[in-house]
Amino acid sequence: MNVFPDDFLWGVSTSAYQIEGASAAGGKGESIWDRFVRRPGAIVDGSTGDVATDHLARYQEDVELLRRLGARVYRFSVSWPRWFPTGRGRAAPAGAAFYDRLVDELLEAGIEPWVCLYHWDLPQALQDLGGWGQRDCAHYFADYAGAVASRLGDRVRTFFMLNEPNAHALLGHLVGMHAPGASDLATYLAAVHHQNLAVGLGVARLRTEEVGLRLGTIVQLQPVEAPHGPGGPREEDVAAAGLADAAYNRCSLDPLLLGRYPESVAGLFEPLARSGDDALIQQPIDVLGVNHYTLERVRAGGGPLGLEIVPPGPGEEVTLSGWRVAPHALERVLLDLRDSYGNPTVVITENGAAYGAAHAAGAAGSGAADRRRIDYFSRYLRAVADAIAAGCDVRGYLAWTLVDNFEWADGYTRPFGVVALDRATLRRTPKASFAYLRRVFGGGGLEPVD
Ligand code: FCB
Repeated sequence: MNVFPDDFLWGVSTSAYQIEGASAAGGKGESIWDRFVRRPGAIVDGSTGDVATDHLARYQEDVELLRRLGARVYRFSVSWPRWFPTGRGRAAPAGAAFYDRLVDELLEAGIEPWVCLYHWDLPQALQDLGGWGQRDCAHYFADYAGAVASRLGDRVRTFFMLNEPNAHALLGHLVGMHAPGASDLATYLAAVHHQNLAVGLGVARLRTEEVGLRLGTIVQLQPVEAPHGPGGPREEDVAAAGLADAAYNRCSLDPLLLGRYPESVAGLFEPLARSGDDALIQQPIDVLGVNHYTLERVRAGGGPLGLEIVPPGPGEEVTLSGWRVAPHALERVLLDLRDSYGNPTVVITENGAAYGAAHAAGAAGSGAADRRRIDYFSRYLRAVADAIAAGCDVRGYLAWTLVDNFEWADGYTRPFGVVALDRATLRRTPKASFAYLRRVFGGGGLEPVD
């Protein structure tokens, strides 16, 4: 039995740097990822996104795959430096023209294009000015957002501002594992606050300049728990988990939806926040994109915030990324949005799992590893269905992702796609999970089939 409404928005998500390739074509400017991947040791397999899935040249084939999958919507990101090579000023005509063609191709295939304006690939020229560490970056973002919306807004109705500013701030600015590779607390806090501002300024800009758009932004939400010892969790670990939750999840959510930072961390932002910022950030949005993968455990420890991540124990079920499989955590995220944030309209904009050998043609298209992906999807989709039944306003689900791609610091070692990529030939081969999602998207029920 199908538990999702007929108008449920099924689809998949991708991001520019992870798939496009053609890293310098058509006058594209350098991004912080183009720079970061060249740092020795930054990417586990020494790879780059220079070619990635070669989507720029093969977008028609990818749109055809989306059509065969039965996707109603497709979320992709625009590469800021492909559009504005130095982040502002002169646009590169070939950049905007590519997104025109992609949008037209999607519309012809009957697929609604959803644009995410920023998925972590800041123009390096803006990084050279201080990147998200500087307040100006939020204003540059709003200008860029306005330019993209005025060109694509006649055909694209749904725009998301930023992808996972919380993950981008943490991984790129506090722990140095992602571009731009910074690791200090002040830069991290600045990146959090200035991205929050960018969301508010971007939404306000598009709301006043363009008519009838559906506007939103995307956060990654992962419940944080203290580890359970034999006598229950320790008090100091519960406090550490609460702080991690505030610093990670709620520092993006609360300013946007409640108009303030969580009390436990508000003091940290005082040196950055100017009067009036709360109102600038708290713009009404039409849809909240929620990316969700896993559950985190945190205990009291060292580091700038006095806490540390507890890795999964031997008995815990994990994906190839080492991320806990815990579908109830997704339901919990959605119930919390219902109860603590006024039940905003939500779309799950990313959910999925890495399993299987990296980019082996043929073999990756079937077999036990991909069956685990199907199992993951079916259990997480059941959690979404339960949340909807409990009154959560969830309107859509986008799987991560279409084709195996460049997974940031993990290079090509983490296949998340429902389509396998042979990196030597760039040939795409749908996996069994592709057929599974096609059936789900067509209203055929969630149970895995063999
Ligand atoms: C998310 C990112 C996305 C992808 C998935 C696996 O945090 O938004 O680009 O890497 O994780």
